[in-house]
Amino acid sequence: MRELWIAGNWKMYKTRAEARAWVAALIEHPQAATVHLMAFASATLLATVEETAKGRIWVGAQNLHPGREGAFTGELSARQLLDAGATAVLIGHSERRHLFHEDDELLQKKVRTALDSGLRPMYCIGETLAERQGGRTEEVLDRQLTRGLAGVGAEEWSRLWVAYEPVWAIGTGETATPAMAQAAHRFTRDRLQALGGEAAARVPILYGGSVKPENAGELLSQPDIEGVLVGGASLEAGSFAAIAAAGAERQKTS
Ligand code: PGA
Repeated sequence: MRELWIAGNWKMYKTRAEARAWVAALIEHPQAATVHLMAFASATLLATVEETAKGRIWVGAQNLHPGREGAFTGELSARQLLDAGATAVLIGHSERRHLFHEDDELLQKKVRTALDSGLRPMYCIGETLAERQGGRTEEVLDRQLTRGLAGVGAEEWSRLWVAYEPVWAIGTGETATPAMAQAAHRFTRDRLQALGGEAAARVPILYGGSVKPENAGELLSQPDIEGVLVGGASLEAGSFAAIAAAGAERQKTS
């Protein structure tokens, strides 16, 4: 059966009680049993998610500092995130790139740190509206992939994911059409193959940007879309479970 990854990015939302209720509701949903579920949560929630999820949900952090430890007030190391229960981490989400000015060189260091420490990175890429309208989507994706994933070793590709999230589709209600998303995913896979051969071409590529229960099934039926990274529609457990159910349905028919 085709493996599918259904990931929620909670951003700066939820208290511990809310996180606990979400996880408890989600793991009760039998439809979600055949897909991989992931929750990328604030650091304050990681231990709660891990304890409540009973191994059913991958626990992800939303950011990390590339250093091992040190005088970096307000930052979190890979070791601390692992200790809190995370096994995965988002790197290069567009809000980090654009609101917090993280560039590909910094993100490459974060990917390196995550892989060295045993945290699995989900490396996010995506073009802005101006870049798409200027015909530069492929150039941007190529640059983000080549720089951010520089130095990933042959045996490390099986420990990461890539998320394609067009910036203009995040939190805007605008979704890339399935054909547009498929084209960007195909391009991403070809670039990954050029960077790391067959092992890199097998990296799961998730789509993100205004994914909802109504559009998840069609997106997930595209041949190069192996999952979705969901922001707004992941906050409510019922709507996230409906997206997971759409994924499970696609698995049966593919
Ligand atoms: P959205 O966010 O689903 O609310 O568009 C996606 C993301 O930021 O990962």
